Amino acid sequence: MEKIRILMVCLGNICRSPLAQGIMEHKAKLVGLDIFVDSAGTANYHSGEHPHTSSIRVARENGIDISGQQARQFLPGDLNKFDLIYAMDSDNFENIHRITGTNQSVQKVRLFLDESYPGEGMNVPDPWYGNYDGYLKVFDLIAANCDTIITKIKDKSLFA
Ligand code: 4NP
Repeated sequence: MEKIRILMVCLGNICRSPLAQGIMEHKAKLVGLDIFVDSAGTANYHSGEHPHTSSIRVARENGIDISGQQARQFLPGDLNKFDLIYAMDSDNFENIHRITGTNQSVQKVRLFLDESYPGEGMNVPDPWYGNYDGYLKVFDLIAANCDTIITKIKDKSLFA
């Protein structure tokens, strides 16, 4: 089987999506799942920067090193380079459709937390304006959803 390619997308690509990338890579490795994961931001404010220090810290406290990641902007061509494109929130879900010129019928573009909470429109809150507590909550939310995605990959229901 071809390696599944997953892109995690937020606004700046320095807080949420680098965590989603790092956590997904880490968990996939733990269960011996060979997938490719990347992340991007729909804005270019932070292109080239490493993840936010609080994202690096919460990941490190959980045994995951995301310090080597570098922010990049989401590009229209990403639509064809990935099997799944996960938006961390509904604003960025809309941004992805705007940038790629697609609409909600494109099954590969999904709201990330829809995998655990289908149809509830749940967002991963943006921790950028808050304190470290927000990063702890975001870590847990993302980690639990990565477990859901891995379970769906294993039981082959992710693309059903
Ligand atoms: P992210 O968080 O989308 O999770 O990376 C943000 C990072 C930076 C900004 C907003 C959100 N900003 O406005 O610079």
